[in-house]
Amino acid sequence: MSQFRHLTSPVPQDVPQQIVSGSIAPAVLDIGTGTGIWAIDFADEHPEAEVIGTDLSPIQPQWTPPNCHFEIDDADQSHWTFGSSTIDFVHVRSLFGCITSWPAFYAECYRILKPGGWIEQAEFSPGFYSDDDTVTDAHIMGDWIKHGKKCFEIMGKEIMVFEKMKSQIEEAGFVDVEERKYKWPIGTWPKDPRMKEIGTWTRAHLNAGLEGWTLRGLTGLMGWSREEVLAYCAGMRADMRNPKLHGIHEMRVVFARKPAAD
Ligand SMILES: C[S@@+](CC[C@H](N)C(=O)[O-])C[C@H]1O[C@@H](n2cnc3c(N)ncnc32)[C@H](O)[C@@H]1O
Repeated sequence: MSQFRHLTSPVPQDVPQQIVSGSIAPAVLDIGTGTGIWAIDFADEHPEAEVIGTDLSPIQPQWTPPNCHFEIDDADQSHWTFGSSTIDFVHVRSLFGCITSWPAFYAECYRILKPGGWIEQAEFSPGFYSDDDTVTDAHIMGDWIKHGKKCFEIMGKEIMVFEKMKSQIEEAGFVDVEERKYKWPIGTWPKDPRMKEIGTWTRAHLNAGLEGWTLRGLTGLMGWSREEVLAYCAGMRADMRNPKLHGIHEMRVVFARKPAAD
């Protein structure tokens, strides 16, 4: 997870700053909090805020800042436990493949947000490409998305969330919708030192996650053997180390506001 933190840290933090400066004791909800690292950092940086992190799994640490706590909650339910108009800021990061109906998810975000409250969602592309055609479908890096799409189609979960979230957030009634797009290089191929460093973290993050993300889906849903999946992951690692392949991992961030007078 530390790689993931480095990977997402280049995203500007100006929106949360605006949000918390506009409210006296802002209520902040991090949905699908995972290790809780975002919630903990936010609570540390904004002691005036009350931060709640929710997840299906109780994997969060017990030692947290006094203004941060965690709850078990399923965000894939049609009605959440939070009251209407009670939250100032909803944060969502990397929940692609976890939710059955994103329109229903955004409708709940809208309901629980106070008028004028904010939502921010950051999502990665589930696949990889290059801008200079060095990565093609003949490479595992280029072929990866094909299997991911099939697995999640069988599970009935959307994975192209990074492409759809802006329009779906607009359709849910949010206003002032802004999207920022980032292209993180995979590996050390960029000449620019900052991009080279980001590429190192991107590769480390993907390296750490590959088997966990693929084993269950490819063996359970697609009939691959464990050995086939491990060989496929080894091929992906080789592609990520190949300096001739200029792979890119996209990330998009959307932030938007519930209208002030609803
Ligand atoms: C890729 S992790 C992202 C964690 C965290 N948001 C971050 O950016 O570090 C996805 C998380 O969503 C959680 N999750 C999956 N489905 C969920 C659901 N229906 N409701 C709540 N959390 C869910 C998983 O348990 C996991 O911790």
